[in-house]
Amino acid sequence: MSEATVAQRDIPRIYSRIAPIYDVWAALTEARARRACLERAAVRDGESVLEVAVGTGLVFEQLVKANPSGLTEGVDLTEAMLDRARRKVSGLPGRHRLRVGDAHRLDAPDQTFDLVVNNYMFDLLPEADFPVVLGEFFRVTRPGGRLVLVNMARPTRALHRIWDVVYKINPAWLGGCRGVDLAPEVARAGFVNVERELLSQMGFPSEIIVARRPAAAA
Ligand SMILES: C[S@@+](CC[C@H](N)C(=O)[O-])C[C@H]1O[C@@H](n2cnc3c(N)ncnc32)[C@H](O)[C@@H]1O
Repeated sequence: MSEATVAQRDIPRIYSRIAPIYDVWAALTEARARRACLERAAVRDGESVLEVAVGTGLVFEQLVKANPSGLTEGVDLTEAMLDRARRKVSGLPGRHRLRVGDAHRLDAPDQTFDLVVNNYMFDLLPEADFPVVLGEFFRVTRPGGRLVLVNMARPTRALHRIWDVVYKINPAWLGGCRGVDLAPEVARAGFVNVERELLSQMGFPSEIIVARRPAAAA
């Protein structure tokens, strides 16, 4: 796995620039993976749901629509991305809240959420941060609760390597994302029933990871 080359402190600046065109990029290369994420998340109305790194709210909007009687919260580092997410959910029924927040330090009590969702964020974090952030996801997930992650995956076919070349020329063109393989880290963080699925769109490889926090001992 190659190391992240865009520093976290530069993320809000880079994503403020990308925000106006983000949804076009997302439709071309990541829409299939987002659909798979929502299917695997299988939100049940009335749940307590957190999405970390909501971006422009492409998944957040669908989570809110599926959960009108529940609570749907979202955080992101970049205000300009959150602004777009707020526009997508304004006027939708239900309790939902979007705010600036950092995945490394989630502002939520232990064991709050039935479902934690996170898409295309680990692929721009330094590897040393993976256990810290997964530890936070574990902490805020209820016993028996679900985790669904989507990341840019490492290449498994020749076509996928185009994106490695793009990243080498200028990581910011890919929003700082490079391929990762997170399933072993998810298991190390204490999650169980870890499943990984791979798919690609326009040669852009994505992994969908589903896992569960163990249920409390009887
Ligand atoms: C590639 S975008 C993905 C957005 C959204 N999840 C999606 O799939 O469309 C990456 C997002 O992660 C956010 N981000 C990066 N590091 C973060 C962190 N430590 N905590 C919260 N958000 C973060 C960025 O601001 C950006 O909105």
